Amino acid sequence: MKVLLAVLKQIHKPALCTGNPRCLSSGATSGLLPLRDEAPMVGSSPELVQKLGSQVEVRTDFITEEEEAAFLRELDPGLKKKRYEFDHWDDAIHGYRETERLRWGTACEEILNRVRSTAFPEGSQLLGPVHVIDLDKTGYIKPHIDSVKFCGSTIAGLSLLSDSIMRLVKEDTPSEWLDLLLSRRSLYILRDQARYKFTHEILKNEESVFNGQRVPRQRRISVICRNLPG
Ligand code: OGA
Ligand code: MN
Repeated sequence: MKVLLAVLKQIHKPALCTGNPRCLSSGATSGLLPLRDEAPMVGSSPELVQKLGSQVEVRTDFITEEEEAAFLRELDPGLKKKRYEFDHWDDAIHGYRETERLRWGTACEEILNRVRSTAFPEGSQLLGPVHVIDLDKTGYIKPHIDSVKFCGSTIAGLSLLSDSIMRLVKEDTPSEWLDLLLSRRSLYILRDQARYKFTHEILKNEESVFNGQRVPRQRRISVICRNLPG
């Protein structure tokens, strides 16, 4: 078992997620606009969206289709040798297989360097291996906070193959929440309070609704970079 994941599972803290009423968006919403053109964040109040907005970023189309394909070529052969895990009900993740990788081919390394320079301040000490999670179409990630012992203030993840919704819920105040639309090929970044004081989760297909609009889940691969605790 990989250290990081073992730790992740230990610190997993289920949060009370009581049917969050969808409400305010950080941008104007229009039923006529395609989902992708809207602000990819909605939350329990405009104040929270504004406050947390500086600590949460979603960059749509951060990578191209060709770059996504490069990751697939590099990751899929290894992932396919593993079976999706469904049976550990106490795990933070359900319906997944995972790996971590230190050395990458040139194409992927170049993209990862772009992720690193976008997400982390220059000179940050990063966790060496990049973490890869392959979620089955029926897979999901339960609410948790990443280990503070092993990971620093910033988490940056690319989403491949599927749109999904990441929900942040304030640990001690579950009425405060933020939903992020993680479109396929987007990059998300969680920093500071958003990383330490809010749980994050990836919603299962049946619950995958963003601002009232269904966001069907397919198989999803995430490629996650983290820094080390300061
Ligand atoms: C994690 C996690 C989110 C993702 O591995 O700790 O929250 O995008 N992953 O897969
Ligand atoms: Mn996490």
